[in-house]
Amino acid sequence: MQRIEQLRQVALGQGGFDLLDHTGRRRTKADFLGSWVLLYFGFTHCPDICPDELDKMSAVVAALDKDNSLAPVQPLFITVDPDRDDVPALNKYVKDFHPRLIGLTGTGEEVKQAGKDYRVYASAGPKDDDGDYIVDHTILIYLVNPDGLFLDYYNRMKSEEQITESIRNHMKAYVKLL
Ligand code: NI
Repeated sequence: MQRIEQLRQVALGQGGFDLLDHTGRRRTKADFLGSWVLLYFGFTHCPDICPDELDKMSAVVAALDKDNSLAPVQPLFITVDPDRDDVPALNKYVKDFHPRLIGLTGTGEEVKQAGKDYRVYASAGPKDDDGDYIVDHTILIYLVNPDGLFLDYYNRMKSEEQITESIRNHMKAYVKLL
């Protein structure tokens, strides 16, 4: 319980989010209470880092799915580029990854609020001649427990196997808050 208290004090992800999913349905953080969640912030025009990280996150979810003793983990992708990543763009994009992956977008303000909650950094660079641009952003996969508490994060250096093992340990150690 002491660790739970410490996590509360870190207060990461405490404010929640209120966004549209890739089917146009409104989703809030409360909708995912009761589920283990993996959360990644990025953008669909990202040339290689986001696809790599989402591939890794999808592989982790698939690996955990093979263990019948564990509850299914819900992967979420929140855009940091809502100007281009509208509902149809996300709908097309999520199909490249795990079948349960949910893409989330919203107004600039809603997306900023969701990111702020996890202290996500995102900054759009200058547009090139084609109007294309890169968004520099935090590259972390966040683990959120069924109580909505942030438990851990994984950077690019962490392998699929390391992340899977870490999440498995968190899930086995989990005691539901009363
Ligand atoms: Ni990216």
